[in-house]
Amino acid sequence: MSDLADSRKSYEKGEMNRKDLSSDPIIQFERWYQDAERAGIEEPNAMTLATANRDGQPSARIVLLKGFGPKGFAFYTNYASRKGQELITNPQAALVFWWKELERQVRIEGEVVKTSEDSSISYFHSRPRGSQISAWASPQSQEIKEHYLDEKRKEVESRFESVDPIPLPHFWGGFILKPFNIEFWQGKANRYHDRYRFTLSDDKHWGVERLAP
Ligand SMILES: Cc1cc2nc3c(=O)[nH]c(=O)nc-3n(C[C@H](O)[C@H](O)[C@H](O)COP(=O)(O)O)c2cc1C
Repeated sequence: MSDLADSRKSYEKGEMNRKDLSSDPIIQFERWYQDAERAGIEEPNAMTLATANRDGQPSARIVLLKGFGPKGFAFYTNYASRKGQELITNPQAALVFWWKELERQVRIEGEVVKTSEDSSISYFHSRPRGSQISAWASPQSQEIKEHYLDEKRKEVESRFESVDPIPLPHFWGGFILKPFNIEFWQGKANRYHDRYRFTLSDDKHWGVERLAP
């Protein structure tokens, strides 16, 4: 087994100064997102989504960011899945991006609401037909029998054989996380990382503070 305790790396790719930050964290996020795309990072939109159940027990998994802007950060899933149910019961959530090649992390906290049905329909229909079928076939997060998915997929394929477009499943759609804080982290040598956290006050003004690494 490799010795994890001795595994360490010095972060030296860049630095972040207050004067270079936009006063709007969504614009700052957009700049960093474009940097991640330009750096050729594969799936820069892959993010960790943390939710918590009614008792405060957290759980986390990767989902794909499918849009962002002043209204928040959007992703799509099965509303009946573990994350879907946790978000419906407790809409507080957090997102984390790690763009390793740039030594950058972004942490976002906020509250989620479901996206409009129109947005869910239009995103659902933008997906390949195979993904639309699997959304219907998969009771995401439920325990299933060994061959359940093969059988279910065939059944759904034949049900929708002459149906176009495939309708949006009633249990599937988007959430949008409206942030109340966003932290930008740039790795630096000797662990003197730069951290700036934006916090929303009065529901519209962003303040920014520097945090110790
Ligand atoms: C790169 C990557 C992208 C993923 N994107 C999504 C996604 O956009 N939506 C989704 O529901 N699950 C996505 N998943 C699967 C989730 O990580 C997770 O396994 C699934 O949603 C069930 O989570 P839950 O049981 O906590 O609800 C993705 C997984 C990976 C590794």
